[in-house]
Amino acid sequence: MPAKGRDSYHIAIRQFRQQMLPIGMPATAVWGYGAVGHQQSFHTPGLTIEARVDRPISVTWVNDLVTSRGFYLPHLCAVDPTLHWANPPGGRAGRDSRPTFSATPGPYTGPVPIVTHLHGGNSREESDGYPEAWYLPASRDIPRDYARVGTYYDRFAEQFRDRYGVRWRTGSATFTYSNDQRPTTLWYHDHTLGMTRVNVYAGLAGFYLLRGGPADLLPGVLPGPASGWDDAHGHPYEIPLAVQDKSFNADGSLFFPGSRGYFGDTPSDGPWIPYTDVPPIWNPELFGTTMVVNGNTWPVLNVEPRRYRLRILNASNARTLILKIVANATAPRPVSPALPFWQVGNDQGFLPTPVQLDQLLLAPAERADVVVDFTGTPVDTELYLINEGPDEAYGGGAPVTDFMPANITTTGQVMKFTVISLGSTDTSVPPSQIALPPIPALPESRTVRKLSLNEEDSAHFTDAPTMDTLGTVTPSGSSTPLLWSDPVTETPMKGDAEIWELYNFTSDAHPIHIHQIGFQVLDRQAITGGALSPPQPGEGGYKDTVIALPGYITRVKVRFGIAGRYVWHCHITDHEDNEMMRPLQVLDQRS
Ligand code: C2O
Ligand code: CU
Repeated sequence: MPAKGRDSYHIAIRQFRQQMLPIGMPATAVWGYGAVGHQQSFHTPGLTIEARVDRPISVTWVNDLVTSRGFYLPHLCAVDPTLHWANPPGGRAGRDSRPTFSATPGPYTGPVPIVTHLHGGNSREESDGYPEAWYLPASRDIPRDYARVGTYYDRFAEQFRDRYGVRWRTGSATFTYSNDQRPTTLWYHDHTLGMTRVNVYAGLAGFYLLRGGPADLLPGVLPGPASGWDDAHGHPYEIPLAVQDKSFNADGSLFFPGSRGYFGDTPSDGPWIPYTDVPPIWNPELFGTTMVVNGNTWPVLNVEPRRYRLRILNASNARTLILKIVANATAPRPVSPALPFWQVGNDQGFLPTPVQLDQLLLAPAERADVVVDFTGTPVDTELYLINEGPDEAYGGGAPVTDFMPANITTTGQVMKFTVISLGSTDTSVPPSQIALPPIPALPESRTVRKLSLNEEDSAHFTDAPTMDTLGTVTPSGSSTPLLWSDPVTETPMKGDAEIWELYNFTSDAHPIHIHQIGFQVLDRQAITGGALSPPQPGEGGYKDTVIALPGYITRVKVRFGIAGRYVWHCHITDHEDNEMMRPLQVLDQRS
């Protein structure tokens, strides 16, 4: 039933086959989102949601990971049951916990929990997709002693069920999105505790484009819809691009590493040591061998010699992209660009002014709203979107040559543009001449919260991957690492501006995402002291995900507008699934 006065959608999560690999190769079993009742709408990434500023929508997210006969489907990837995770077999008492095993367990093969998060949306808590607000499909064969929903529904939701009118049950949840924020490129994806990396890798991600309101440009200034969006076909000159890395088996199925063997360790390393050490199945980062754009490996886009608006999302688990548009895709790195990007927006809306960039650095979950001008490019020209980011955890700050560069012929290639003849005159404004809407600033604040990013080494395997955590910084400057299950330490007051200092004590860069809000990036400074470096050109305006460079303090200014329970975390999904995530409680009023 459509709710009164707002658009409502029923979107299901299903398993289906998609031609991700080139034609002639096998199709791939994936998960994706689609409209209930329209099987041909199912795709990964999921169908793009078009929303208008200040016009709320509600979405009923249906967990339809079941066979046609109503039995549950197991996961496409190896689920590590030793993490702090959703844990349906733990039953009511043991939900959302890290179980204790006496021997190395195998992957979990039961029914799959899901919960959807609108990334960058200023959602109320009950609609935010809290990691413990997961639910199983309504399949007929769920063992009786399994938990069917996460602990969130006991601990938080009962108290405001009446206030918000939120509905949940095994199989679906109805969330409301107020769209009460600046227009921007959002995305939605799965956020289940301890399973986000595998659920997103299996395909659970999609775009959510928010348009309109006083903070948007008039239609026609940017390439794209001048007189409305064609819901069925989008717009030929405005193209969302979700970039991901994946690996495939020879039969076309997705490959996801299911043991530490992926990193060269062998079973002779000995038995798994429970807790605070190395989980047997989880890996610290997923680096796929293949680049996938909008669910297709190395696609080709025909472009006219005119301007295009590209909304680029890095939806990879762990890979930081350094994107360029070049004429020779296989030239030795670094390649000089053939065309620049004109970046006009980032995660949370427009920048103060358009910036011309030779390359785009995008960590997982970051977005760039760019104009690329193909005007004057001869017909039949081939240009390439390439990736010069490393096949490694991104160290940031240091020259990319310090790392293993992306394999030139595989993860170094993203997609191809082929120039075709001009279809109609380009009436969009040249990006250098676009005046972007003014950006409101946050008030002054002297409230400082010192937070840490920490690396935990394995006591048992010298060559083993490490686990990363978040925590707090003591007055003496050392860190207190905390786990997901530790009591909440971040309790900002609704409406108050605060400065969050992210001390990265690890040796890698981590993209830190804070729910509910856009924040301002203030500066970065080495933990050992020294000069403040200003935000990068693409970090103006507001962000919801920021790269915390190793050895640096990254300062952001936050202000929460809604009281309630949220999270902040690293958006390397492999990290957030293993303790690099913390709860956050926005307080309502001074006591
Ligand atoms: Cu994009 Cu908390 O997630
Ligand atoms: Cu991380």
